[in-house]
Amino acid sequence: MVSRVIPVEPFDLVIFGGTGDLAKRKILPGLYRRFIAGQMPANSQIVGAARADLDTDGYRALARAAIEEFVAKDKQDEAQIAAFLATLNYTSIDATGINGWSALRTLMRPGMVSAFYFSVAPSLFGAIAERLHEHGIANPDSRIVVEKPFGRDLATAKALNAVLADHFTEGQIYRIDHYLGKETVQNLMAVRFANILFEPIWKAQYIDNVQITVGETVGVEGRGAYYDKSGAMRDMVQNHMMQLLCLIAMEPPYKFDPNAVRDEKLKVIRALDPVQPADIVRGQYLAGGGQGGYIEHSENPASKTESYIAMKVGISNWRWMGTPFYLRTGKRLRSRASEIAVTFKAPPHSIFGMSDSMHENVLVIRLQPDEGMTLTVMIKEPGPGGMRLTEVPLDMSFAEALGADHADVPDAYERLIMDVIRGNQTLFMRGDEVEAAWAWTDPIIQGWEARGDKPKGYDPGSAGPDDALMLLHRDGRRWRDIR
Ligand code: BG6
Repeated sequence: MVSRVIPVEPFDLVIFGGTGDLAKRKILPGLYRRFIAGQMPANSQIVGAARADLDTDGYRALARAAIEEFVAKDKQDEAQIAAFLATLNYTSIDATGINGWSALRTLMRPGMVSAFYFSVAPSLFGAIAERLHEHGIANPDSRIVVEKPFGRDLATAKALNAVLADHFTEGQIYRIDHYLGKETVQNLMAVRFANILFEPIWKAQYIDNVQITVGETVGVEGRGAYYDKSGAMRDMVQNHMMQLLCLIAMEPPYKFDPNAVRDEKLKVIRALDPVQPADIVRGQYLAGGGQGGYIEHSENPASKTESYIAMKVGISNWRWMGTPFYLRTGKRLRSRASEIAVTFKAPPHSIFGMSDSMHENVLVIRLQPDEGMTLTVMIKEPGPGGMRLTEVPLDMSFAEALGADHADVPDAYERLIMDVIRGNQTLFMRGDEVEAAWAWTDPIIQGWEARGDKPKGYDPGSAGPDDALMLLHRDGRRWRDIR
């Protein structure tokens, strides 16, 4: 087994929005976990920058509370926490004004790798980018990290790209899609391109259909205001699911190199067919199980926002013509389960004369909760009495197969932040990729807005609206059962 962790140089990382929810839940706990894993050099510095009037001690207290709340208890070691907190500084800053910028400049150390995490509303991106330059804080090697939502349609995404491009080159911009930081998502590339087994049959000729499911049990509690303007299409499909689809469908890049990988993903997005209204089912969860429905969390009692979406997507290129990709994602579903299922075609002829007992091989790549892979194969049913076939799973849980050393894999955010410091953009979205994804998404959303389409109600704890079943039934297929 080859295991090689690429070391990280000491760095200055500034978190704009350093007191916000993402910083507390993900960024600071993630950095702490990398610190105790020995990946964050001790002479690195993290600077929280936000509007709040705090001093460094106050910020360290905030970070300590975040670690205590969001890091597993067995990873909380007092000496380590103290050492980590010592790397933290804080500066109170006015993103659109003059306060705080010269203090920030004084904190930055020349010659260090510098990165700026824009964990703030996109409307502040331009002002922050401009001030970083005005005050000579950023240099041509600095990196900036931006979060989703990267725009809400093609026009806004273009405007954001333009604002950032005024001050930073594409090579400096790291657009995060945290799905790309998930272990199994990267494993998709390993499975496809580090084995000879699958790639020769990875095409419409041998693959009947692909199903991508991202099921969640949570609702939109507390995020109603954001979510209502977004819906499942903007929140999950345009970014996370699109990335999964790209990694499954793309051609082999010539190299595992940022632009080589992103060029191939872009080609997939550009080859996506426009989706017809009949190929989409939208849903909105109803009240049930003692909890309010979507409407109760929305600020609009007549909201037509979807909390569930299922769709059939086609890719018009040589590899995929004729293989449907079925996507579904939703909140308040029966289980938190995400997987990609690739169903191969049945053998063209059964020499056993029992064509009805021939099942298709299915390769399932599980993203969560239990990361792993299953391949179903047909074998002979043991015992005498003639040749009877049965289907068995070749099942592999990554945690079991790889053992304890690998059970504690970094969370998506920690991995991605370390990639920023390493200067590796492979797992980040390029500007043209984001724009192409919106160019495909926009007409779909505009279509249902123009028609005034309402989502179908579905019961919490169910598998989504019944209409989603029809999407596959009419093609003679079924969704896989997700538990
Ligand atoms: C976020 C969405 O990007 O991804 C959330 O805004 C969603 O609505 C979340 O719940 C899902 O991420 P994960 O890692 O829990 O699958």
